[in-house]
Amino acid sequence: MAILVTGGCGFIGSHTVVELLNAGKDVIVIDNLDNSSEKSLERVKEITGKDVTFYKLDIRDREGLEKLFTDRKDIEGCIHFAGKKAVGESVAFPWEYYENNIGGTLTLIDVMRKHGVKNLIFSSSSTVYGDPDSVPVTEESPVKKCTNPYGSTKAMQETILTDIQHADSEWNIVLLRYFNPIGAHKSGKIGEDPNGIPNNLMPYITQVAVGKLEYLRVFGDDYPTPDGTGIRDYIHVVDLAKGHVCAVNKVMSGTGVNIYNLGTGNGYSVLEIIQAFEKANDVKIPYVIKERREGDIATCYADPKKAYEELGWKAEYDLERMCKDSWRFIRNVSK
Ligand code: NAD
Ligand code: UFG
Repeated sequence: MAILVTGGCGFIGSHTVVELLNAGKDVIVIDNLDNSSEKSLERVKEITGKDVTFYKLDIRDREGLEKLFTDRKDIEGCIHFAGKKAVGESVAFPWEYYENNIGGTLTLIDVMRKHGVKNLIFSSSSTVYGDPDSVPVTEESPVKKCTNPYGSTKAMQETILTDIQHADSEWNIVLLRYFNPIGAHKSGKIGEDPNGIPNNLMPYITQVAVGKLEYLRVFGDDYPTPDGTGIRDYIHVVDLAKGHVCAVNKVMSGTGVNIYNLGTGNGYSVLEIIQAFEKANDVKIPYVIKERREGDIATCYADPKKAYEELGWKAEYDLERMCKDSWRFIRNVSK
């Protein structure tokens, strides 16, 4: 039996494909390559020595999906990563975000159910907690209004998937709320290398470190945190990927809708991340304090206890390792 991975050429998807193959699963990847390249799967093969079947396919392409599920009767479940994820872009292009993320998911799950495949793991985000009233956030913490269309697509998709499972108990759905994935595979062969100017902290830091960008802009030093900069729960992407292997086992055991935080439980400030990166890699990251970024919150980190108790999963890699692995990957691709 095989697991279908949508968006499997992307950052988190490619690392998850490695861990699925390492766990002995058969994997089929579909991706429209909107934000990735098929090369990442060649690298996955170099890392694991195993083949992955790849179809260049858009999750909004109903006919293409019909053909895939007709041809591949061995698909038993799906890990659904495919989606657009840039917060700022979603503010400028909300229609494109709703159409791709929500439209795509509706088409995917409709074709899945027609073919009797009703096991799904969905990539959600800690963004659904908005500006939390207290930290660490548990899965019971309220889902709040998101400050951007990208975040709204995640909250809406959670609702849609939950409603569908409530109407049809044959569905098994795991909603994984990721905190802030960084790092890269230790081989340095796969990682995150966004096009253009990065939006997220670690990709920005690595570009400063390789000299592509002059300095980091620290967005605000007047938050109610010990050093005034924003605090997040950074998690190694390989730990996150392993969480999906545990979630596959859960979803196949047939237990309705389950929600899990995938985070470490530790919060680090922007200045702590800069210091950790400098120390781990012996490089200097010049930075300048700027205004707060619109839509940002002061602090968010996970209570990851539920994932440990129910999935047997917990994050293992520390911040030093995340910084070293991020740096190794970016040096490789910048050569
Ligand atoms: P990514 O952009 O590297 O991967 C997403 C992949 O989906 C890309 O390869 C892209 O080409 C593909 N894709 C997009 N639209 C598609 C479509 N219509 N049909 C087929 N393929 C399509 O992003 P990532 O960081 O690996 O994120 C994976 C998932 O996790 C996304 O759903 C994202 O929203 C979610 N997530 C990411 C983060 C993060 O910080 N990276 C945090 C929380 C949640
Ligand atoms: N930051 C800077 N300078 C930068 C980039 C970020 O100071 O150039 C700061 C931010 O202000 C924030 C922290 O670094 O305090 C982390 O910012 P990121 O953009 O890396 O991450 P966010 O927590 O803002 O959001 C990211 C994704 C969301 C996702 C969330 C949780 O962009 O889509 O992680 O997974 F929902």
